[in-house]
Amino acid sequence: MKAIRYHEVGEIDVLKFEDVPTPEIGDDEVLVRVKAASLNHLDLRLRAGKSPRPVKLPHVGGVDAAGDIEIVGKNVTDLKPGTRVVLDPTVKTPKGPSVMGVNFHGGFAEFVKLPATNVVPIPQEVSYDEACVLPVCYVTAWYGLYDRGGLRKDETVLIHAAGSGTGSAAVQVAKESGAYVIATAGSDEKLEKVKEIGVDATINYNTSDFSQEVKKITEGKGVDLIFDQIGASVWENNLKSLKTKGRILLVGVVGGGQTTFNFGPVIMRDLSVLGVTVFNAPRQNLINVINLVSLNRLKPVIDKRLPLSEAAQAQKMLEDRSQFGKVILNP
Ligand SMILES: NC(=O)c1ccc[n+]([C@@H]2O[C@H](COP(=O)([O-])OP(=O)(O)OC[C@H]3O[C@@H](n4cnc5c(N)ncnc54)[C@H](OP(=O)(O)O)[C@@H]3O)[C@@H](O)[C@H]2O)c1
Repeated sequence: MKAIRYHEVGEIDVLKFEDVPTPEIGDDEVLVRVKAASLNHLDLRLRAGKSPRPVKLPHVGGVDAAGDIEIVGKNVTDLKPGTRVVLDPTVKTPKGPSVMGVNFHGGFAEFVKLPATNVVPIPQEVSYDEACVLPVCYVTAWYGLYDRGGLRKDETVLIHAAGSGTGSAAVQVAKESGAYVIATAGSDEKLEKVKEIGVDATINYNTSDFSQEVKKITEGKGVDLIFDQIGASVWENNLKSLKTKGRILLVGVVGGGQTTFNFGPVIMRDLSVLGVTVFNAPRQNLINVINLVSLNRLKPVIDKRLPLSEAAQAQKMLEDRSQFGKVILNP
């Protein structure tokens, strides 16, 4: 089969479109013919050797994928070849999560194998392209905003990098609660698109001090919750943007993963700092977002679809921060 594989970590040119053996399944596994796989910022960090979860080389990435079941193992009685499925990338093991596209080969290939318990059937109303953006971005948004962050409808939430795959998902998932959503992004062009997916207010964090803008928008009150995918570079202004008893969800570190930490404001204003890892989310979160897409209440934002052979171009879009929402590969 064809796959995107790399034999060393480094720049984008380490990605090779090449022939690799089609995976052989075990008795409790299924082989899935991939119809769509979406890119995540994580793919770039893994390929560059910058992730705290290093991959075993050579590696086939791809944490997010959807397709058709091709073959089922001997012990698999509840799934049939031809079933349309999305793949839950997280295999729960006694030692912790083992993740498709990280700890074992992923969806940037014509076929992928994984335990039968990790495939989730999708209804006809949900396309493969829509399904393949749900397991990471939409589940992170749901798990972060509701399970970890406890977002309520009478609250105000600030979502950073709302033009990213995860940010655009978080905007839509947050609006489901009825909360007031303020979104940031790095260009006015992205913010125009963010308005179309339903935010209540926008801030360009490259041309303004977002904490001051938050104060203006909330009439001095600040926000209840922050969904932060950026990290160190926005930490101080995040603290300034929160109400007393506000909560910060630490989701990503594109702007740095370390900073000095002044305990004072956190203690004196009863702030909460909460980590979020999608690989700890319950399966029900994925089922919730599949259902909401089938009801047309969540509409995944897909910027570009490319053939599998053009994975390097797809990764370049993410590296250049030029995409809005998700970039998809169709083998
Ligand atoms: N904890 C979890 O379980 C989890 C799950 C999913 C994602 N994440 C994290 O969330 C972040 C976003 O992931 P994604 O896949 O949605 O990313 P993405 O689609 O590639 O978008 C990343 C966006 O972040 C913004 N950004 C701000 N500062 C940046 C910087 N210094 N370098 C690069 N981009 C910067 C850019 O938007 P602007 O141009 O608007 O600035 C960029 O387009 C990543 O850190 C990822 O690891 C974490």
